[in-house]
Amino acid sequence: MKYYIQSFGCQMNVYDAKSMMGLLNEAGHESTSHLEEAELILLNTCAIREGAEQRVRGRIGQLKKYKDRGSLKYLGVCGCMGQKEGERLTRDVPFLDLVMGPGAIGSIVRLVDALERGNRPVLDLHGIDDDFDEVYPVADEEIVYPRFLSIMKGCDKKCTYCIVPYTRGPERSRDPQILLQEAESLVQKGYKEITLIGQTVNSYHFGDVHFPKLLEMVNQIAGLKRIRFATSHPNSVTHEMLDAIATLDHVCEHLHLPVQSGSNRVLAEMDRNYTREDYLEITRYFRSRFKAPLIQSTLTTDIIVGFPGETEEDFEQTLDLIRSVRFDGAFMFKYSPRRGTPAAEMENQVDDFTKARRLERLIQLQQQIAGENNRWLIGQKAEVMVERVSHHPKQGRVYEARLRTGRIVKLINPEIEYRVGDMFDVIITDCSSYSLYGNPDHDGSNPKQLEIA
Ligand code: SAH
Ligand code: SF4
Ligand code: F3S
Repeated sequence: MKYYIQSFGCQMNVYDAKSMMGLLNEAGHESTSHLEEAELILLNTCAIREGAEQRVRGRIGQLKKYKDRGSLKYLGVCGCMGQKEGERLTRDVPFLDLVMGPGAIGSIVRLVDALERGNRPVLDLHGIDDDFDEVYPVADEEIVYPRFLSIMKGCDKKCTYCIVPYTRGPERSRDPQILLQEAESLVQKGYKEITLIGQTVNSYHFGDVHFPKLLEMVNQIAGLKRIRFATSHPNSVTHEMLDAIATLDHVCEHLHLPVQSGSNRVLAEMDRNYTREDYLEITRYFRSRFKAPLIQSTLTTDIIVGFPGETEEDFEQTLDLIRSVRFDGAFMFKYSPRRGTPAAEMENQVDDFTKARRLERLIQLQQQIAGENNRWLIGQKAEVMVERVSHHPKQGRVYEARLRTGRIVKLINPEIEYRVGDMFDVIITDCSSYSLYGNPDHDGSNPKQLEIA
């Protein structure tokens, strides 16, 4: 059967989609990039904020026409919104055939078989994986970066605003032997870089293998040049982990460390289990491990404004923290109440106008700092790996190449033609708040040789 999977939300969903594709292909199904020929469409959904759910509902509405025309036999919702809304979705959307949660990824082939046998709607919301010992087959037809590999699933932190522990279940770390096998099969496929993911990736532990130890093990895989990881939780950061990032040769020096708020009072209400002082200590130590911190390391974060009870003073504390840490980048959100989470029940909800105004001020400050950090990078030299090539009518070939620290450098119409995965040095020549531009610096080496390499 021809199928099409569209993912919304975070890296977990991108990875889950790849895993389902591996399993479906192995069972003889075939992926297509054309909606009109798909007999099965799976929406791999996100429920983190209200807006994410609205996007999915809009998409379901758009897809109805394929059902009406008869080309689409089965429409399914998987991922976090599937788990959260469950049966309610099949009542709201009578033409839905399948609703499943992230725990049912490993059962996808069995669920599709059930559809083929005429069952409808098919539901799988039991939430606990039956695929935990699975090394997912790699179905990638071409090398596309970033390539994710989930090392753990679920979350035990239960931040009071967050739906994830309810949609993804409790924290489970995967067996390192299974992970290493999966990583090796990706390297055999041609990947030079892998991004290890988990909701709180640095809480990983399996027997006596904790996160820094796992980094060390993955660092030894022959042929793997770059190892990334996300997302870290401040409460599980250790100096040992930061030292591992600074010293292991293939582990990239990018720490994405969501702070959420700069106010200790709000952090406590969120149940984040660290203080702003703890956070500042971690970021100071991390930056101190590098001689030229801005080119040799990247520090990014997530921030929520308008959490219930957040006062103007609390918000000022967040701005103040941003000024102290000087993040290279940040994802910034208005708090969105999620049914079933403790914060949604709190009485002192902040009105939307205040949330919007705070978000705007926050974005403005963060943009200014990111721009200043970027300007400092001009003239610096560092290694990149080519991730994407595009052709522009005016600029010609544009390459997006990533620094070890995670930042993208754009190379406009360079003399040499590169391929995805090529690695070389660049000199940063220009920037904006969001983008860096650079020129290849081949250090006098013969460019022709580079082309063949
Ligand atoms: N597991 C990761 C992030 C998961 S969700 C972590 O703990 O850091 C990604 C980001 O979405 C969070 O860091 C948070 O900033 C934001 N987020 C989560 N729930 C939210 C909500 N209810 N409203 C607004 N933003 C939210
Ligand atoms: Fe959500 Fe907190 Fe878990 Fe992150 S650590 S997934 S924000 S509950
Ligand atoms: Fe969304 Fe679920 Fe990820 S809620 S952010 S897809 S874990």
